[in-house]
Amino acid sequence: MKIFEEIESEVQSYARSFPRVFNRAKGEFLYDDEGKEYLDFLAGAGTLNYGHNNPVFKEKLLEYIEADGISHGLDLHTRAKAEFLEAFNEKILKPRKLEFVVQFTGPTGTNAVEAALKLARNVTGRENVISFTNGFHGVSLGSLATTGNSHHRGAAGVSLNGSSRMPFDGYLGDDVDTTAYLDKVLSDSSSGIDKPAAVLVETVQGEGGINAARFEWLRNLEAVCRKHGVLLIVDDIQAGCGRTGTWFSFEEAGISPDIVTMSKSLSGYGLPFAVVLIRPELDQWKPGEHNGTFRGNNLAFVTAKAAIDHYWSDDKFSQEVQAKGRYVSERLQTIVDRYGEGNFTTRGRGMFQGINCVNGDIAGRITRKAFAKGLMIETSGADDQVVKFLCPLTISEENLKRGIDIVEQAIAEVCAAQGEIPETVDFFEDDYSVSAEDRFRKAG
Ligand SMILES: Cc1ncc(COP(=O)(O)O)c(C=O)c1O
Repeated sequence: MKIFEEIESEVQSYARSFPRVFNRAKGEFLYDDEGKEYLDFLAGAGTLNYGHNNPVFKEKLLEYIEADGISHGLDLHTRAKAEFLEAFNEKILKPRKLEFVVQFTGPTGTNAVEAALKLARNVTGRENVISFTNGFHGVSLGSLATTGNSHHRGAAGVSLNGSSRMPFDGYLGDDVDTTAYLDKVLSDSSSGIDKPAAVLVETVQGEGGINAARFEWLRNLEAVCRKHGVLLIVDDIQAGCGRTGTWFSFEEAGISPDIVTMSKSLSGYGLPFAVVLIRPELDQWKPGEHNGTFRGNNLAFVTAKAAIDHYWSDDKFSQEVQAKGRYVSERLQTIVDRYGEGNFTTRGRGMFQGINCVNGDIAGRITRKAFAKGLMIETSGADDQVVKFLCPLTISEENLKRGIDIVEQAIAEVCAAQGEIPETVDFFEDDYSVSAEDRFRKAG
């Protein structure tokens, strides 16, 4: 469609990878305006954990709109907000023994990160924030200062201050615990690193290339924060809401952050919504000190409550996501083993996994081939070198298998074209002969 070329800004990104006009979406599928179906392994960059137009939430949303419920509410008390808070407290916070107050920010992830950084700085009276290599926290200036990617940073146009970068887990190899270095520089008054207000971390770096921090590393990071009186902020905007198999991505590590940011799949329906969770004693905001017109997306409160009620009232959904995650691990490992040492490696955990293809050229060729076969899947990482599996968590077992099969086929073709692996069709026939159920049973 020419209109996009005529008047939409050059800044478009996903639209370049998937140059179609999309018109409808349901569950794990998108449809273009010619009616062609695409399996969605992009899921709104982690915003559609429960699929497109989830019927459970849609029904609640339609009822609410039909009854002329409040849609925009600034930060007014509304029934929809009360019901969201009630569900969040009873079904998410209390069962996990977490005590947080909820700050509603502007509706994007970066709004939540800005608020978290500002609060940490105000509470501690310190300016510096430790963030990590390959971290991504958004593109507004405060968040951008904590983001690693030079492509994004370069667009700032001003110097990006107030953050010191530290090596993330694995950055210096698996044998190095980089929290020891952090401890050292924070203990040394001549290290050149100003005592920080906070450490800001993703437990699994999404945009940075699906780098999963080891649980032990996260526990050590928490210990270093406590030792030096530094706040621990977990940015759970992409890894949260069940992506790793639990509501919060840090649950399995057993750490207790002081502040947590959430957005993306929080509304469940792709509606913009973000919050900052704050340990009560740190909630030192003065009334109206940090505001924003769009802090009261009540439609999002309705669908967010529906998502919590439907999927998080017990641990059934969480178990299902974990089983799917084990299946993905097993399949990706098999693919990596098949295509030779050094070519590809797996990364991530739960339903937040990827294949590192060494360089962006190979990864891009794989995702383009996958798209030609009807699968939407993106890359991430400093050089776009990681093929990122981010399908809805609600995806059927059959379609999960189908999507991975398509990637495997794309990898086989790319490798064959490079002359590295002789192209055979045999193993696909083998793979297809194993039913999705059998594979799940084996993996789970
Ligand atoms: C971990 C993390 N934090 C923050 C953001 C920024 O969110 P938004 O793009 O909604 O501003 C993202 C977006 O990908 C993210 O993955």
